[in-house]
This record gives sequence, C-alpha cells and structure tokens, in this order.
Amino acid sequence: MDNTTSELAASIRSIPDYPKPGIIFRDITTLLGNPRAFRRAVDELVQPYAGTKIDKIAGMEARGFILGGAVAHQLSSGFVPIRKKGKLPHDTVRIAYSLEYGVDEMEMHRDAVQPGEKVILVDDLIATGGTAVGATKLLRQMGAEVVGACFVIDLPDLGGRRKLEELGVVVHTLVE
Ligand code: PRP
Ligand code: ADE
Repeated sequence: MDNTTSELAASIRSIPDYPKPGIIFRDITTLLGNPRAFRRAVDELVQPYAGTKIDKIAGMEARGFILGGAVAHQLSSGFVPIRKKGKLPHDTVRIAYSLEYGVDEMEMHRDAVQPGEKVILVDDLIATGGTAVGATKLLRQMGAEVVGACFVIDLPDLGGRRKLEELGVVVHTLVE
C-alpha cells in the first residue's frame, strides 16, 4: 500500500452490523471530515481523466453527490444526479436494482444527458455493483457514452467491479 492509499484507508471507519446484521458498513464521513483525506481522495479520483474532455459526471445518491460534485468541479464537467425514486421533479427514466443490503429503484431526468455525451460515474463505494450497473443502463438508454467509473472503495469479494467491466466500463478505485 502506498502512502496515499494507506492514508485514505485509515480515514474510513468500519461499522459492524450496519444497516443489517452481517454487513460491515464502510463509513466515509470520517474521510470527508478530514480535509487532507477529502482533498486526496478527490485528486486521486480525478487523476485518470485529467486533460480529457468529460461532458458530465453522474453521481449516485447520496454519497456519490458529495464526491461527484467535487470531481465535476475539478474536471469542469456538468453533474447529473442519479436519485432514488420519487425525488426528481421532471420526466425521468427509472430502473430497479439490488445492492449489498436491499433493493430499490433509481431515476434520472430524461434530458440530463444528450446522445453521445461522455459521462463518468462517481460513487464512494462499489460492492455488488447493482447501483453502478443500474446507473450505466439508465445513461446508455439515453444515449450517453459511459467512458469510466470511479469509486473510493472497492469491495472485491462482492464482484461489482467485474460486472461493470463486463459491460465495457473502465473502473478506477482507490482502496480495497
Ligand atoms: C451505497 C453506496 C453505493 C452502493 C453500493 O449507497 O454509496 O451507492 O451502496 O452498493 P452496490 O455496489 O452493492 O450497489 P446506498 O444505496 O446505501 O445509499 P446512500 O448513499 O444514500 O447511503
Ligand atoms: N454499500 C453497499 N455495501 C456497503 C458497505 N459495506 N458499506 C458502505 N456502503 C455500502
């Protein structure tokens, strides 16, 4: 582990049996509250895309909004919120998905992306990949090109990264 990886890993708190028994919840609020770790995480997330024209960052509610907003600012890109159902006011596309501890539905505004726009997904963590795969499908349904996805944390045993890569999305993560 290099210095940045170990500093980031040390700034993430683990909560056993949350939100359900048997789940170890990786809590990034401690990373976000640490100015140095927050800056480093955003800098590292952005690094593979520096100098590339990315039209939009898509962030998944809710933790993907915090990191995705910062990444969009760094890359001078727009931001697309992918929200849990019922939160967006205009015409939406919706998809059901499952994640490590439940099932839900997510939505995106139909006019949030234009055909051919280059989009990067940003979230704090990839576990089963259900959330990121759902978001990729919504974006592609609206004609966007999902050129990459980045996460602070990968839980490799849950196989999400592989699922996303099988869809042709290049995945960048900082900590396992
Ligand atoms: C968490 C996390 C990812 C997702 C990853 O979000 O922020 O979005 O789970 O899990 P998966 O790879 O198994 O799909 P959550 O739905 O708990 O929402 P929150 O950010 O609103 O807490
Ligand atoms: N989302 C899915 N699995 C998670 C975990 N173990 N910790 C935090 N967020 C998650």
